Amino acid sequence: MACFFRRSIAAQLGRTLQQSEDAFIPALSAVAVFKKQQNADFKLSISALRTNGILPSNGDIQMQTEDLAAQLKQDSVVEDISAGSAVVNFKVNRKLLVQKMLEPFGKDEDEKYGLNSELFHTLKRGTTLVEYSSPNIAKKFHAGHLRSTIIGNFIANLKQSLGYNVIRMNYLGDWGMQFGLLGAGFGLFGSQEKLKQNPLQHLFEVYVQVNKEAENNEDMKQAAQDFFRRLEQRESQAVSLWQQFREITVDEYQHIYKRLGVHFDIYSGESFHQDQAQEVVQQLQSRGLLKTSEKGTGVVDLSPSADMSSVCTVLRSDGTTLYITRDLAAAIDRQEKYNFDEMIYVTDKSQAGHFQQLFQILLSMGQSWADRCEHVPFGLVRGMKTRSGEVVFLEDVLDEARARMLHNMSQTKTTKEMDDPEDTAEKVGISALIVQDFKGPLQSDYTFDWDRMLQTQGDTGVFLQYTHARLCSLVRRNEGVEAATFDPSLLLEQTSITILQHLLRYDEVLYLSAQDLQPKHLVNFLLKLCHLIASAHRELPVKGSSQDVAQARLRLFSGACSVLANGMRILGITPVNKM
Ligand code: ARG
Repeated sequence: MACFFRRSIAAQLGRTLQQSEDAFIPALSAVAVFKKQQNADFKLSISALRTNGILPSNGDIQMQTEDLAAQLKQDSVVEDISAGSAVVNFKVNRKLLVQKMLEPFGKDEDEKYGLNSELFHTLKRGTTLVEYSSPNIAKKFHAGHLRSTIIGNFIANLKQSLGYNVIRMNYLGDWGMQFGLLGAGFGLFGSQEKLKQNPLQHLFEVYVQVNKEAENNEDMKQAAQDFFRRLEQRESQAVSLWQQFREITVDEYQHIYKRLGVHFDIYSGESFHQDQAQEVVQQLQSRGLLKTSEKGTGVVDLSPSADMSSVCTVLRSDGTTLYITRDLAAAIDRQEKYNFDEMIYVTDKSQAGHFQQLFQILLSMGQSWADRCEHVPFGLVRGMKTRSGEVVFLEDVLDEARARMLHNMSQTKTTKEMDDPEDTAEKVGISALIVQDFKGPLQSDYTFDWDRMLQTQGDTGVFLQYTHARLCSLVRRNEGVEAATFDPSLLLEQTSITILQHLLRYDEVLYLSAQDLQPKHLVNFLLKLCHLIASAHRELPVKGSSQDVAQARLRLFSGACSVLANGMRILGITPVNKM
């Protein structure tokens, strides 16, 4: 494992500079594989040593680098030491590299590979509440909700693999005027029959229809307001209709989430925090934080100089609460119920201001844990369309991904016989959606492109799945050949060394992702791994090699396959074994 080498290099550095070896670990990193040939495996950043006070920060950095390199010696682990530009490079013993990196795969520890790295020892692994997906009942499920769903799932998976206690929460938009409209409109345009058959579609249809009607029909508007008031007053008929809408919607979403491989521990929603929101208003009042605006609304002054130049409205003039008021109540409630160490909200970047205000008001209310709340913003998706037009339902996107993938598979000569091609097409189609979404920085907008994301070559989810399936098939075809032990000296070709050098980075990549919560590090790491595996398939054949060479190569391939599968799972992709 990478740790073995990092530890051993740090130990020598510690002895040489008379420092604790731990101090060097953060300054050491595996060298990224670029072109094939590359000598150094690790580099030590001299500027990092200057920052943490191990080396004086005023000396000439290049002199310090060369000085240090000259003081270090080869040993049984380190084969070569050289000075680069402000870094000291280390090349480790080749046989040891092969042995240490591939050893854990023989011990049924495949699923934990890299996760016990000492890099993670400094993480404060407590309870993390991740709130994601959070669609609105009866309204459109837009691309932003899909992004929130897969990004939140990734963050939850990542934290969970690193040993955090993760709570996955869906916060439904299940309250507000839309229910007034829906409740009033259902009597006119709704049908229980259709609601049972196709709930999401039917609720949306009714919603669109009432909205249109309400535009120039005052009676309709009034009816909607009346219905919502009945709902707020907990009038039983209104509540039971609302409840039916909510339950049916959650049921339906659960099916779709299952297809996506996503689940939630808790389905909460805005409706849960109605009463608490009023209590929050009272607390704001008693703390002297609630001001009345000229329009008669209740506001909190957020301006630094307390001159009301920037305010946040928490109460309408009719005394009803708003989105942010419910969010304040929900956050406080979650802290009380789950006592989380951190909370992460995943929504599109247009809500960044909302969350900033939310955290600021919580802090001013004395809720100091609010500085352990974080908003993870993401950019817009342009042009998400299906063959039948604009996307209204998530299901349509999943159906289309599956249909297109099924079509592509039927056109490809190499496609294998499968028990359930639809299921494979579904999984591969979803991985294409995920990889397209995760390749760049989350904050960036991107254009949805079916053809590009489904390419088998190129950097796509299909390529990840294809590589995984191919590795599985190699392992299957050679059942019985793989042995508990292997001879590391049979894996010294550059092609295999490059793969191992790349694997040295796995724990660092996970660490980086845990820091900034960006999936791109892991996606790009896995794509690179797949490219390296493609060369290895060509250059390190198993078939036709002698028994011991075949054994050693299989170990390399099955190890790479495990890392690929583990990484894919963290991204929220279910690896397929055949395609
Ligand atoms: N339902 C909201 C929307 O679709 C997203 C909710 C985000 N979470 C929150 N706690 N405000 O825009």
